[in-house]
Amino acid sequence: MTYRVIPVPPFDYVVFGGTGDLARRKLLPALYHRFRDGQIVDGSRIIAVSRSKLSDSAYRSMTQKALGDFLADGDRDAPTVDRFVRMLFHVQADASGDAGWERLAKLLKSRDDTVRAFYLAVGPALFGGICRRLGQIGLVTPLTRVVIEKPFGHDLKSAHAVNETVGTVFDEEQVFRIDHYLGKETVQNLMVLRFGNVLYEPLWNSNLIDHVQITVAETLGAESRGAYYDTAGALRDMVQNHILQLLCLVAMEPPDSYDANSIRDEKLKILKALRPVGGDNAEAVTVRGQYRAGAANGGAVPGYCEEIGVAESATETFVALKAEISNWRWANVPFYLRTGKRLPARMSEIVIAFKPIPHSIFPRGAGIAQPNRLVIRLQPDEGVKQWIMIKDPGPGGMRMTHVPLDMSFAKEFQVRHPDAYERLLLDVIRGDQTLFMRRDEVEAAWRWVDPIREAWELSGAAPKPYIAGSWGPSAAIALIERDGRAWHGD
Ligand code: BG6
Repeated sequence: MTYRVIPVPPFDYVVFGGTGDLARRKLLPALYHRFRDGQIVDGSRIIAVSRSKLSDSAYRSMTQKALGDFLADGDRDAPTVDRFVRMLFHVQADASGDAGWERLAKLLKSRDDTVRAFYLAVGPALFGGICRRLGQIGLVTPLTRVVIEKPFGHDLKSAHAVNETVGTVFDEEQVFRIDHYLGKETVQNLMVLRFGNVLYEPLWNSNLIDHVQITVAETLGAESRGAYYDTAGALRDMVQNHILQLLCLVAMEPPDSYDANSIRDEKLKILKALRPVGGDNAEAVTVRGQYRAGAANGGAVPGYCEEIGVAESATETFVALKAEISNWRWANVPFYLRTGKRLPARMSEIVIAFKPIPHSIFPRGAGIAQPNRLVIRLQPDEGVKQWIMIKDPGPGGMRMTHVPLDMSFAKEFQVRHPDAYERLLLDVIRGDQTLFMRRDEVEAAWRWVDPIREAWELSGAAPKPYIAGSWGPSAAIALIERDGRAWHGD
């Protein structure tokens, strides 16, 4: 199996929030990996901007420590780390004031013909001010891109406002909205599985698919992110973006090419075709929960409120819902979606559940043919399992058994599985928007999600409690069982 490294020409990556958690935990390790692989060449610069008073050398030491903390032992190699940190610089600047911008401009101006990316790893409240300032001081060239991190607003109105502000300075082709799920290896594999094979596409519709399940389960709790999480909740934090993006990739029509706008056009059609959930049906097709004290990650853990230090909260840490897509392909095929924190396992998977066979030719003693399932595992143990019926081997008459044709990518391909951020950070430099969300997609997703949240707020009901380490409130199990189905693997 080949691992292809195609170097990119030298660039300037400017990271606002360069001393923050995202930069230390994800961005710097990702850039280090690509540097070590030889994709980032000498002459590139990573310029961190923050309010801290740090010299370049102090920032380099901070990065060495971060790489020590967040890289696996085998990935850290001292001479490479030393060479990597030499491309780092730090500029002290006030995102909402005047200090520091001159130095940034001076560092960048002499390289106007170099690809330049501004990564806004800061709160959305600062996006507008930073973009305006970048425009005013002449740092936005045709080769400039801006990367923004979710949350893209907290509802349609605020998302629209963020998009408007960013759009006054950058053209849509320059705006890269990161949804890191799209950078995951298996998520892209989903497209190859669907459109690189002839096998599945003829089956991929309501004639043969009974329903689809998408689960994104985490063992982590809200932990130190309480201040953000308590204003967001699982619907905004996971469903509006990651889960709806997965749903779009499963459900979209074949795009005419693997090109950013062709793919995004098809995803948008799905978002627009989602059957509205709100006042009249929210109660019946959604479940929200909040974890109480229990056990996770091999130890006792506190409940949500205790963990984030509040007396009470109506924020959901779990959502299950039944979505439907109003088009020919998916009529009457429910998509059951669920995500939550403090569940029993960290596990994300998509299950395509096929219909039962129309008629069994086998004697009763052979057993019942279980419907086929295609299980696409995003993490951990990335891979694909196609569950099929076979004859139980050996003597004993005709007996059937359900087995997986198992393709575990980690075992099969001995290559390093890059973190999603690695690919996405470099796609920005390459100017490839395929794995980034377009403005209209983000807004369409909010348009579907907002009425759900409004219905919850209006009902005044508290999220249903569930014990940390369980699969969420029992109502989530009832949601699917009412339809005569069950969550895969529970
Ligand atoms: C982030 C959410 O977008 O995704 C977090 O804000 C969540 O709450 C995380 O923990 C999950 O990402 P991953 O890659 O660990 O599945």
